[in-house]
Order: sequence, then structure tokens, then C-alpha cells
Amino acid sequence: MAFDVSAEAYARFMGRYADPLAPQFADLAGVRSGQRALDVGCGPGALTVVLVERLGVEGVAAIDPSPPFVAALRERLPGVDVQQGTAERLPHDDDSFDVTLAQLVVQFMSDPVAGLREMARVTRPGGVVGACVWDHGSGRGPLSPFWNVVHELRPDAHGRPVAPACRRGTSPSSRRMQACGTSSRRS
Ligand SMILES: C[S@@+](CC[C@H](N)C(=O)[O-])C[C@H]1O[C@@H](n2cnc3c(N)ncnc32)[C@H](O)[C@@H]1O
Repeated sequence: MAFDVSAEAYARFMGRYADPLAPQFADLAGVRSGQRALDVGCGPGALTVVLVERLGVEGVAAIDPSPPFVAALRERLPGVDVQQGTAERLPHDDDSFDVTLAQLVVQFMSDPVAGLREMARVTRPGGVVGACVWDHGSGRGPLSPFWNVVHELRPDAHGRPVAPACRRGTSPSSRRMQACGTSSRRS
């Protein structure tokens, strides 16, 4: 899915969720000094900034298909290797990273299985591949307040979107992905 919006517009809406999520996700993945990390679907850089704080610019690479996000992140974090591209076709060599993360991205991949496979390929054996998505099942997604009000005003209203893999028991539209967990260690 293409994100053709400015980094500022994204920050005003999704930034309020993505920014506080990023350090918690990095903690969960065990990101620590000396590692090399890749941020897949980096957007304007909510997680990339946290990775750079912990690993330095030379320890971090990032990739996203959105031209405005890539341009904004290159300006925000000079020295970081920020590339334009998709998870499904990562341009990086095998075993390049200790940690490869995708924050709020898997549900947008056109082929999540291929994307996750690529993330594993570029991660060294024993490294961490991690992904997190919204919890739409509990009504705590970013659009939940909007839809709650809609249904208060119009109980019969249709249209609440259900992103794939964002509630227990659902899987991405490819139906090939069994689960979308948090992080796993590459064997
Ligand atoms: C909700 S945003 C998350 C951005 C960032 N990770 C954050 O936490 O703010 C989803 C991002 O996924 C990117 N994206 C969409 N399809 C993708 C794909 N196939 N591979 C990698 N990134 C993708 C979008 O361009 C967008 O930046």
C-alpha cells in the first residue's frame, strides 16, 4: 500500500501512536549497543530515531516504499542508510543485521510472507526478526475512537475497516501467513 502523504501529516495522526510505541518495541526486541539494525517500512522514522539513539547512525539502516517518507527521513537523520524499496525485495545482503524490525507495517505488505522471509534472510542466524501491528480486536486501534463515535450516532453504520493480521484469528489476505507475532529469533 502506497503512503503518498507528507511526513508532517503522518506525524500529526499516526506519530502520536508510533513515537511512544518505538522504544517499547526496541526494548522487546532487545536492541542494544554494538548491534546493526534494519527498520523495514520506516515511514518518517519513529523507530529509526530510537534505533539511532541506541546504535548510532552507522548501526542503522532503513527502507520504505514512500518517496516523501524516504526524503523526510534522509533529511531528519543524515548519515543513516535510508533506501526506497519494499520488504518483499530488500536490497541488503544475507545476514547483514542483528535485528530486523517492522513497526506497524506487515498489514500493508502486498505479500507479508515474502516480506517476513526477506527480513529473515538479511538477519544473521541467531538474530531477531520482529514485527508489531495494531490490536484492532480490543477496540484500541488508532481509528477506534472515530468509529466508536460513528456507531454511537449511527448504530447501523458500516465501514469499520479490519486490517489483516490485526486481531486474534485473522491473517493477511494472502492467507499464507499463520500468525503475526512480536519477535522471533532466526535459527
Ligand atoms: C503505519 S506506517 C508505519 C511507519 C513507521 N514504521 C512507524 O512506525 O511510524 C506503514 C509504513 O509501511 C510502509 N509500507 C507499505 N507497504 C510496504 C512494503 N511492502 N514494504 C515495506 N514497507 C511498506 C508505508 O510506506 C508506511 O511508511
